[in-house]
Amino acid sequence: MAAGGQAVPESRRRTLYGRSRGKTLRTGQERLVAEALPKLEIGPEELRRPGNFAFEPSAIWLEIGFGAGEHLIQQAKANPEVGLIGCEPFLNGVAAALAGVEREGLANVRLRRGDAQALVEAAPDAFFSRVFILYPDPWPKRRHNKRRIVSDAMVEGLARVVKSGGEVRFATDIDDYAGWTLRRFLGSSRFRWAASRAADWRTPWPEWRPTRYEAKAHRAGRASVYLTFVRL
Ligand SMILES: C[S@@+](CC[C@H](N)C(=O)[O-])C[C@H]1O[C@@H](n2cnc3c(N)ncnc32)[C@H](O)[C@@H]1O
Repeated sequence: MAAGGQAVPESRRRTLYGRSRGKTLRTGQERLVAEALPKLEIGPEELRRPGNFAFEPSAIWLEIGFGAGEHLIQQAKANPEVGLIGCEPFLNGVAAALAGVEREGLANVRLRRGDAQALVEAAPDAFFSRVFILYPDPWPKRRHNKRRIVSDAMVEGLARVVKSGGEVRFATDIDDYAGWTLRRFLGSSRFRWAASRAADWRTPWPEWRPTRYEAKAHRAGRASVYLTFVRL
């Protein structure tokens, strides 16, 4: 579905790059995918219906490409009044996030196994107060750059679905991807970069805990860039 609830024409559908499954799921993970995922999964069309959560959330946040879900679970635990939607195509990651939801007894998480661009296109206007894009796949080869989740179309979609005053938080350990993302958001008249000091882009957000990919990057000696874009 596209903006306004229209179906996305086949020709405009984005190819999903990267792995959609890895190691065979363990029995417990298979059970979670079979039993818990259907209850928690939110389809693009459901986004437009009221009552996506069993309570009235104070805000709705989206995490794009949550990996194994550590950050999503941490945010959901720390902010029980917020509704968290996580979108991730990798089945093993979805299974890990489901285990986290069950372990922590969270009632404020909904998941989508699939492409975040499609989810963003389907979301109502001004739906999200915050969107996280943390360590997206870098696609470093020039000819693969167009596979990056941050694209002109994504920025345009986020400008529509993020509320005025809401923010997009982006982190990467790939300097070229930081520059790529800055250029796209700064090229949009609907976002401003919330950096008041030069050092801000090396400073994580308050109460930040490194994600799995951040930990991996830092072990390998790569520094991180943290960018916050505020929707005007
Ligand atoms: C490098 S991992 C980072 C995972 C996690 N955010 C972290 O920091 O540990 C990038 C993640 O983005 C997911 N991803 C790739 N394409 C995506 C898409 N189109 N929509 C949503 N997630 C996507 C991948 O499956 C992968 O789990």
